[in-house]
Amino acid sequence: MSRSSKKWLREHERDPYVRQAREEKYRSRAAYKLLQIQQKFRVIRPGDRVLDLGAAPGGWSQVAASIVGKSGRVVAVDRLSFDPIPGVTILQCDLLDSGGAGSLRTVLSGRKADRVLSDMAPSTCGIPSLDHDKSIALAEGVVDFLPEVLRDGGSFVVKVFQGGDFPPFLRRMRGIFQSCHVVKPPASRSRSVEIYLVAENYCPE
Ligand SMILES: C[S@@+](CC[C@H](N)C(=O)[O-])C[C@H]1O[C@@H](n2cnc3c(N)ncnc32)[C@H](O)[C@@H]1O
Repeated sequence: MSRSSKKWLREHERDPYVRQAREEKYRSRAAYKLLQIQQKFRVIRPGDRVLDLGAAPGGWSQVAASIVGKSGRVVAVDRLSFDPIPGVTILQCDLLDSGGAGSLRTVLSGRKADRVLSDMAPSTCGIPSLDHDKSIALAEGVVDFLPEVLRDGGSFVVKVFQGGDFPPFLRRMRGIFQSCHVVKPPASRSRSVEIYLVAENYCPE
């Protein structure tokens, strides 16, 4: 194992959210990012239909499923496969691929979601400007798809990597949502460039 992998593993084992996730049976430490966003904004409500994009291994879907309850629905999408979660419909596809988008339309069968969550992250190469471009491209791809999957008045939580194209992306979001907050939940590592937008009341042009 390389030195950097050993360092990553040591840090991972010491991370309090990793330990807490093990104890509380969440699939990932990422679950706490959504829990902290939820605590502040109450984005998801009981009975909601939630679409969780970039869902593997399933931490956010676990959180969403426990909030929406039996009267709600969670559809989780990822290009990777992951183990089933009670109350969650899993769709394995690449969302930016036309076939993937088509499969999602079929699963939703014409009923739009109340909330769309996207914790999608691109495969990174370590060059910050390129990783930023890929992250913005993913987020823009989801925003292009929103008219088909998010109901008017619905909410959207999306992760992006900070960088030069963040301000125009934020302007675009502010043009189609009544409110849009930029959030760095405490569970998001301070050295990570990721940031979340919590956008409410979708009102497309
Ligand atoms: C940070 S992980 C998500 C963690 C998850 N929210 C959780 O709580 O466990 C990001 C995910 O985005 C997925 N992803 C990235 N691009 C994608 C795409 N085009 N279509 C579907 N999934 C994608 C990756 O496969 C990866 O599993």
